[in-house]
Amino acid sequence: MTKKLKHIGLFTSGGDAPGMNAALYAAVKTAAANGISVSGIRKGFEGLIDNDIVALTTCQLQKTMHLGGTILKTARSDRFRTIEGRKIALQNIHKNEIDGLIAIGGDGTFRGISLLSDISDIPCIGIPGTIDNDTVGTDYTLGFDSAVNTAMTCIDNIRDTAESHNRMFVVEVMGRDSGYIGVYSGLTSGADSILIPESPQDLEYLLDKIKGYNSEDAFIVVLSEGNKLGLNYVSSKIRQVNDEIDLRFCKLGHIQRGGNPSASDRMLGIRLGVMAVNALVQGESNKMAGICDNQLVLTPFSKIAKQHSIDRELRSLVELFCH
Ligand code: F6P
Repeated sequence: MTKKLKHIGLFTSGGDAPGMNAALYAAVKTAAANGISVSGIRKGFEGLIDNDIVALTTCQLQKTMHLGGTILKTARSDRFRTIEGRKIALQNIHKNEIDGLIAIGGDGTFRGISLLSDISDIPCIGIPGTIDNDTVGTDYTLGFDSAVNTAMTCIDNIRDTAESHNRMFVVEVMGRDSGYIGVYSGLTSGADSILIPESPQDLEYLLDKIKGYNSEDAFIVVLSEGNKLGLNYVSSKIRQVNDEIDLRFCKLGHIQRGGNPSASDRMLGIRLGVMAVNALVQGESNKMAGICDNQLVLTPFSKIAKQHSIDRELRSLVELFCH
C-alpha cells in the first residue's frame, strides 16, 4: 500500500522560465486539497544543501502566478553534483520531514534529482520548465510559449526599423542546443531566413539567397544561439557574399526569459502542477509530468533527454517560407 504523503518539498532549478510560478501555485493548491503541506526549497539544489526551506501557502502563490521568473529563485548547483552535497541535501530532507519532492527544471534538473534515488527512496516527480522546449517526454515545456511571444514582438519591432531603412538584420534568439525558439519566432515574424542547429545546411541557403538581394527591402535572419555560429561569424559570411548590404545585428538575450507568462504557459503550469502532486499521491516516482498530444503523460527520468530534432512538418514550413 502507498504510504500517505504529509509534506512535499517543491523547488525550481536551472534557468528560470515564465510559468514556473503557476506550476508552484497549482501544486500547492492540489496538495492542500489532499491535506498535504508544502515547503518551498529556495535556489534549487543549493537550497536543499543549505537547508533554505520556507513554508508555502496557496494564498501567497495565487498572487504570484502571473509573474515571470520563479519566486523560489533558482540556481545551477555544482555542489549537488558531488556525493557529499547530495548526502547533506538528504539529511535536510529528513530533518524537515519532507516525504515527496517536485522539481521544476530541464533535463539537467531531472538527471540531478534521479541521482538522489541512488541514496534514498524519497519519491520525486519532475515538471519540465525551460524556455528552450528541448525536453523529451512533453510537447511543450514551461516558458517556451512566453519566450517565443517575447522574441516575436522584438523581431516585429526590429522589422519596423529594418523596413524603414531597407536593412538586413541578423537577430540571435535563445536556445542553448535547440532551434525551437528560432523556428517559432522566425516563422511568426515572417523572417526571410532561420538558422537552427538541427539544420546546419540552412546557412548555405541563406548565402545563396542573398546573392540576389538588392537592398530594396528589409531582410530578417533569425539565428538560433544553439548553432554556436555567433552573430559576428554569420555577419562576416553575409558580407563576404554581398558587401553592399546595410547590415545590423541584435542579440535578444535574457529579455526572452523574463516577463509575465502567457496564458498557455500559465495553463501548462496549472495542468502539470496538479498532475505532479496527483502522481506523488498515487505512489509514482522518478518520472516527469508532461503533455503529449494534449494528454497528460508520465515519463521515467531514465528516458528523459534533450530533444535534438525538429519535427518534419516544422522543417517543411521553414523550407517553404525561408528557402
Ligand atoms: O536554458 C535556458 C537558457 O535561457 C538557454 O536558452 C540559454 O542558452 C541559457 O539558458 C543561458 O543560461 P544562463 O542564464 O545561465 O546564462
